[in-house]
Amino acid sequence: MATFVIVGATGDLAQRMLLPALFRLWSDGAISRDFAVLGVSRRSWHDEDFRRFAQEGIARTGEPDRQVWGAFADRLHFASGDPTTPDACAFLAAALREVEARHATGGNRLFYLASPPSTYEAFLRELAHSGLVHRRMAPWTRLVVEKPFGTDEATARRLNALLEDSIGEERVFRIDHYLGKETVQNMLVFRFANTVFEPIWNRQYVDHVQITFVEEIGVAGRGRFYEEAGVVRDVVQNHVFQLLAVIAMEPPAVFDAEGFRNEKAKVLRAIPPVRPKDAVRGQYRGGRVRGERVPAYREEDGVDRGSPTPTYAAMRLGIENWRWAGVPFYLRAGKRLARKETEIVIDFRQPPLALFKDWDVTEMDPNVLVLRTTEDEGISLQFAARVPGRRRMIRSVPLDFSYGRMGQAERPAYEHLLLDALRGTQTFFARRDEVELQWAIVDPILRHWADHPPEDFPNYDAGTMGPAAADELLERAGRRWHAAAVNPEVSAGV
Ligand code: BG6
Repeated sequence: MATFVIVGATGDLAQRMLLPALFRLWSDGAISRDFAVLGVSRRSWHDEDFRRFAQEGIARTGEPDRQVWGAFADRLHFASGDPTTPDACAFLAAALREVEARHATGGNRLFYLASPPSTYEAFLRELAHSGLVHRRMAPWTRLVVEKPFGTDEATARRLNALLEDSIGEERVFRIDHYLGKETVQNMLVFRFANTVFEPIWNRQYVDHVQITFVEEIGVAGRGRFYEEAGVVRDVVQNHVFQLLAVIAMEPPAVFDAEGFRNEKAKVLRAIPPVRPKDAVRGQYRGGRVRGERVPAYREEDGVDRGSPTPTYAAMRLGIENWRWAGVPFYLRAGKRLARKETEIVIDFRQPPLALFKDWDVTEMDPNVLVLRTTEDEGISLQFAARVPGRRRMIRSVPLDFSYGRMGQAERPAYEHLLLDALRGTQTFFARRDEVELQWAIVDPILRHWADHPPEDFPNYDAGTMGPAAADELLERAGRRWHAAAVNPEVSAGV
C-alpha cells in the first residue's frame, strides 16, 4: 500500500492527531497490511522511542487492543536526521528502502510535512533534488502540507511554485482540517439535497450571514507560534474562509475535486480585500473562563509582554456575484471567549409586518437559520409563532435538529483526511488558487494592522465574547451578533 513518512514526527501534531488517526484507520481495517510509518526528525531516537511516543498519544484516545497495537507498532520506524540539510535525503532514502522492503509497501510514498512551516522551503528544495519524489503514477508519491501555508500571498505563491517544481499540484494535499470535519459534508447535503433552502439562499431573501468561530482555550502552550500567526493567520485565512466558501458556493455540476474546488475558488475570487474600517481586532486580558482564572495573552509563555498580536478579529466582507451582491458576511474568531462554538447564521429579511401592527412583536426576529458545527452539531430554524392566550403576541421559536440524535458519532477530521490522501482523493484539500485567494482577502488588513500598532490592547476580558468594537461593527447597520444556542425545551427535536 504505502509508507507514510512523517517529517517532524516528534511533534505535538504527530502525537495528538496523526498517529492516533493512523492507528484507528489501521484497526478498523481501512488501510491494508502492507503499510508502514517512517517518522523523521532531528532527535536521536530509535524505533522503540518512536513507538513509545506513538503509544502515549494513542492511549489518550482510549487503551488500544494489545494485539492490534503490537501489529501496528511493528510498522512504526524512525529515521534520525535533519531533513533540511543537503545530505538529508540520503539518510531518508536509506531508511525508506529498508522500510519498503520489510513491509512490501510497493514503493508508494506519502510525505507528511508536520515540521514547523519555516522548514518547508529548505526541505522541499532538498526533496526536489533527491529523486525521492517523482511524478509517475505508479508507484505514487504524494505530499501533505500542514497549515499555515505561507504568511501572506507572496510567501504562499513562492511555496506553491516550489511544490509545482518538486512534485506537481496533482500530488499536493494542503490540509485544512475543517474540510475533514463532517460538518462540511453535512452543509453540502443540507444545501444541495433539499429543495426548500436553495431557492431562498441568495440576496433576495438573505439579509446577512454571520460566521462565528470562537474558542474558550488560549494559546495552549503555543505562544511562540501564535506570536507570529495571530488569529487571522491561525484560523480566519483558512478554516473560516473555507466554511464561508462552502456556505456561499454554487452547486458543482459534478462532485469531485475539480468541481468542488472550482466553485469554492469562484466565491473567494468574488470577495474584495477587507477594508480597515470593516475590521476589528482584539487581545484578551486575564479573566475567568468557566469559573477558572486564566492569564492575559501577554502573560502566556513565549509571548512578548507588550505584544500587538491579535487573539480576536471580526470583519465584514462582501461577495460580489449575482447570488450575494449587497449581502454582508460578518466573521468573528477568537481565543479565550465565553464558549467554544463554530456556527453559521443565515439571517433572512423581515417580511412586511403591517398586518400585525397592533400585536406585540418585541420578542420576534426575522427567520434565522443556524448551522452549528461544534459539539452538539445541528441545525435550527427560528420562525415566528403566535403565543397562545388572550394577548396578541408573536415570538420567535426554534425548530431544532441535532446530528448526534441520529445516533452516529462523528470521526475525527484527521481520520477522514489521511484516508483521502492515502487514496489520492483531493476533494477536501485546498487547491493552490484557493490558498492564494484567501491570502489576497486578508493581506491588506494584516499590513494595515502591522503599520498601525494597537493602542487599546488588551481590549477584552477572557471569558466574554470579545471587544465592544466588534458589536459596534454590526450595530452601525442596525444588526447584532446572534446570541446563543437554541432553547432545547421549545425545540421540536428529531
Ligand atoms: C487549529 C488552530 O488549526 O484549529 C488552533 O491552529 C485552533 O489555534 C484549532 O484551536 C481549532 O480546531 P478545532 O478542531 O479544535 O475546532
